[in-house]
Amino acid sequence: MAGISAALGRWYESSKRDLPWRRTQDPYAIWVSEVMLQQTQVNTVIPYYHRFLDRFPGVVELAAADIGEVYKLWEGLGYYSRARHMHQAAGVMAAETGGKLPTDPDALRGLPGIGPYIGAAVSSIAFGLPFAVVDGNVKRVLARLFLLEPPANNASSIKTFQRVADGLLDQQNPGRHNQAMMELGALICAPNNPRCSKCPLTVHCRAFQDSKTGEYPRRIKRPALTYQHWTSGVIVRKGRILAVQRPETGLLCGLWEFPCIPLKKEDDPLEALVSGLYKIVGIHVASPVRITTVNHTYTHFKLIMDVFCCHFKSGRVRLNGPAAFKWVKPVEITALPLHKAVHKALPAITEYWGDKT
Ligand code: ADE
Repeated sequence: MAGISAALGRWYESSKRDLPWRRTQDPYAIWVSEVMLQQTQVNTVIPYYHRFLDRFPGVVELAAADIGEVYKLWEGLGYYSRARHMHQAAGVMAAETGGKLPTDPDALRGLPGIGPYIGAAVSSIAFGLPFAVVDGNVKRVLARLFLLEPPANNASSIKTFQRVADGLLDQQNPGRHNQAMMELGALICAPNNPRCSKCPLTVHCRAFQDSKTGEYPRRIKRPALTYQHWTSGVIVRKGRILAVQRPETGLLCGLWEFPCIPLKKEDDPLEALVSGLYKIVGIHVASPVRITTVNHTYTHFKLIMDVFCCHFKSGRVRLNGPAAFKWVKPVEITALPLHKAVHKALPAITEYWGDKT
């Protein structure tokens, strides 16, 4: 085991990428980077990381911010609960630790959004504590090194992967070790066509020796994603558009959109729109025109959204579902944190309205 982590450490020192969060010792910045990196590729994260730290340079600034602004800076990264949890955790730290990340691993892990992965990453990289990180990259490396049989995409396998990762950890240099494992998974031990000729661990790698890199990590087949079909109404009144905020919990929580009505198979999108709008926002609309249909794949489902533009006819906004509403000028809409399908619909909406609003 020591031979593996030593070879890995040497490789990392000579081959690691120069990434912004590797140039800092600030636990807050390291936390931000790890939360962003948990579900998102390095190249996507870099500009978000810089913007986030420019606006919220520390825990106290993040805690003091409006959650809407945090969502706005997160827009496009997806998995918005990450942003909400960070904001909540910052609130706790601002109140209880003077804005410092706790060095005590249990205290750190007790904060919103800080589970085993973020806890181990921050504890090891920022504080040098001996906790092994297990993410998708690390599981792939371990599965191939030791021909591990538990499926990498099944929650029940985590115990095995964590045990093996713990055993391999370089106790003297856990932060470097964890980053090296993730880096090897990202740069060399790729899911398809791993670059074994460049790998520092081939002499130790059982999958390489047995020509089985294509068979590991094991995965279980999952059922295909389900579809949801929504109909959405862009309601215009006196040059303003009605935007609504999704509830604070559940699907795409806290994000803004034009009022959306989920459809059942037998529903007609236009009829469901007119009755649905009355039901969820209390407004009767006139002359709806279907202007686009957008598709977007979220983590747990695929969305098809029919978008209609329509005019306010009568009624007063009375919410039954959405958490909040705003009548916004068309140019103001992008100041709100919108979910991806709404973004995809905006060009068609803008083109349709032109100067019609
Ligand atoms: N993925 C998650 N954390 C990472 C890190 N610190 N460096 C590179 N990739 C990562």
